[in-house]
Amino acid sequence: MDLTKRFNKNLNRIEISLIRQFDQAISEIPGILRLTLGEPDFTTPEHVKEAAKAAIDANQSHYTGMSGLLALRQAASQFVADKYNLHYRAEDEILVTIGATEALSATLTAILEPGDVVLLPAPAYPGYEPIIKLVGASVVEIDTRAHQFILTPEALEEALQEQGNRVKAVILNYPANPTGVTYSKEQMQALAGVLKKYQVFVVCDEVYSELTYTDQSHVSLGTYLPDQAILINGLSKSHAMTGWRLGFIFAPASLTAQLIKSHQYLVTAAGTMNQYAAIEALTVGKDDAEPMKQEYIKRRDYIMDAMSSMGFEIIRPDGAFYIFAKIPPGYNQDSFAFLKALAYEKAVAFIPGAAFGTYGEGYVRLSYAASMEVIQEAMRRLKEFMEEHAGEH
Ligand SMILES: Cc1ncc(COP(=O)(O)O)c(C=O)c1O
Repeated sequence: MDLTKRFNKNLNRIEISLIRQFDQAISEIPGILRLTLGEPDFTTPEHVKEAAKAAIDANQSHYTGMSGLLALRQAASQFVADKYNLHYRAEDEILVTIGATEALSATLTAILEPGDVVLLPAPAYPGYEPIIKLVGASVVEIDTRAHQFILTPEALEEALQEQGNRVKAVILNYPANPTGVTYSKEQMQALAGVLKKYQVFVVCDEVYSELTYTDQSHVSLGTYLPDQAILINGLSKSHAMTGWRLGFIFAPASLTAQLIKSHQYLVTAAGTMNQYAAIEALTVGKDDAEPMKQEYIKRRDYIMDAMSSMGFEIIRPDGAFYIFAKIPPGYNQDSFAFLKALAYEKAVAFIPGAAFGTYGEGYVRLSYAASMEVIQEAMRRLKEFMEEHAGEH
């Protein structure tokens, strides 16, 4: 019997993430320095770990309500009010999820139907498209390369007009993976001005909100478009808690009441002891991201200088922990081939830009969630590689 042909046909449209595939393929290389995955190199703050241990010892091992502990939703509500001037009620406008990933799955499966279109400024994080394809919907990428990876109101309006009623949602991610760009108040207001004319959901992935490096703090679309925005966030990046799988959805009560259905049948609720740790993270640890942020800024500046002097073109990232660099002319523009050669010859690994969609080809993405020592050695090896291959293409 061959059941492999009986899977949901949409599964054939999905592959294991190219990031993971590439990372695995090169991980066997002896002494390889990996600036590949989007995972903080810091460890979870001690006081947060202690809160989880106390919850375990107090036998907090039962299900919580579907939307998560009220005390955690209150902490999340206060956190986003203090930090981003956002106002979401703990009682009915916040859901606690298993990371931003489940928040995205619960949201996209709740709103999308076969044939729907989702607009996605690109290059983009590759975690969205597979969920969209699985439900029979599709992505239309909006090319942002000509505007320093920023979605302009004009490009947004044009795509909304072109795709018409098929557009069910727009996904915005800021600060962005892979480019690190984010939006000012004025830019965000302009996008909101366009979006409010269309009956579309706007799914805002703000998982890097605490890692914003501009003078002005993180600006959320939720401030300007509260009726349409569904905000996704989590503790993976802000508190170096990727493995705890703790995230949030913030949305108006009428939308939350729908989203909770898909969330419930996907996971019931997030892990209870993790939720207690999250209360600690968002209250006592509300500024835990600050020292990490200072360190990330130093690393960003170091890599920017080093790679710019090698001829890479880089838009200065204002958030997250990635550098998205254009391969200089005269080198292999096929990002997979370029990075394969770098990995095998110099034992340094980045992620090929092509992993971030059609418009990522010709670029490489580095994650600077790695120690300064590793980064310095990686830059030294990259420099050698660039000198040895100059003018070959
Ligand atoms: C843009 C973006 N969204 C979501 C996620 C997933 O976050 P989580 O660990 O909370 O599921 C990542 C992780 O790399 C990401 O880069």
